[in-house]
Amino acid sequence: MSGLYSLGTSVLRLLPPETAHNLTVKIMAKGLAPKLGGVDDAVLRTDVFGQAFPNPIGLAAGFDKNAEAYNGAFDLGFGFVEVGTVTPKPQEGNPKPRLFRLKDDKAVINRMGFNNGGLDAFTKRIVDTPPKGMLGINLGKNKTSEDAVADYVTGIAQTATLAGYLVVNVSSPNTPGLRDLQHIESLKVLIEAVRAARDETVKDAPPPLLLKVAPDLTDEQIEEIADYAKTGAVDGLIVSNTTISRPATLRDQRDEAGGLSGAPLMDLSTDVLKKFCLHTDGGVPLVGVGGVTNGADAYAKIKAGASLVQLYSALVYEGPTLVNRVKEELASLLRADGYRSVAEAVGKDVIRSS
Ligand code: FNR
Repeated sequence: MSGLYSLGTSVLRLLPPETAHNLTVKIMAKGLAPKLGGVDDAVLRTDVFGQAFPNPIGLAAGFDKNAEAYNGAFDLGFGFVEVGTVTPKPQEGNPKPRLFRLKDDKAVINRMGFNNGGLDAFTKRIVDTPPKGMLGINLGKNKTSEDAVADYVTGIAQTATLAGYLVVNVSSPNTPGLRDLQHIESLKVLIEAVRAARDETVKDAPPPLLLKVAPDLTDEQIEEIADYAKTGAVDGLIVSNTTISRPATLRDQRDEAGGLSGAPLMDLSTDVLKKFCLHTDGGVPLVGVGGVTNGADAYAKIKAGASLVQLYSALVYEGPTLVNRVKEELASLLRADGYRSVAEAVGKDVIRSS
């Protein structure tokens, strides 16, 4: 059967990247994704920010921007799925082409620009199709909006009752000015406002609020955001989004503008993850994302401080059986080192006394 899936993956790779992506989402939205999940190995079960996860491997934001295919993603075996980024109003995104495969590098460059169908259609789909598992909702702002805070507050108010967790995404490189919201003074204003909106919308046990950051932050920014996170301002950090940097090792299409993801992002995003782990003293739950291609990468993220791990780009190259492979390899690696749970291994490369 896995031969069939790798054939399907090879056929999809013959299509232009965005066409292949849209087709994959359609197949999954129709419930035609292969049912590869099952009962997860008990060593993978984990509790993070008060929520239970059958395994720590999630689908990163940007794959299912419009909340159409999340149940198909759960069928592949993901332990959680993050939908969005959704903006209050529908928007087209940047002109095409805006998605590029860097085959030789097992990487992707995208400058999609938050193309999505807007909050109303997004929330209706989630109400009509209850998620089979933990659903994270990732929020952004419209390109032409002049009041970024108001856009995020609108997003929170419309989705907080539907979310397993909420993500404030201030780190995509393809919306002008968005990443400036990571500057600590702007960030504090934004986070205070969205937290108030969340608590107003869901008074009893509101969903955790996470902040997704870029891998291109300076050390000073990392320290400022870590210090702020430690005050309890957010319930977790997602580290990281795509990078605007271009590692010297890249062989393919390095001149395209946009965010780079996939294998070449692994080291950079894991280094930033370690810095966040160190500066938060392991006290703020971290989600590690960027360049995860196999179980060893997922394990490296966990030992660098991640309680949960996400991936996206590797699916383009490895196909749907990747999820089970990552989980199996991760479970073996945990056991080989004598860990009885994911939680026991979190941050072991960073905080040695823990
Ligand atoms: C993304 N990513 C992303 N992130 C986000 O927060 N909102 C978004 O809308 C998108 N959109 C998006 C589109 C495409 C085509 C890609 C490849 C990526 C970033 C994604 O969630 C993740 O942080 C990075 O891709 C790094 O992980 P991988 O892909 O290296 O596993």
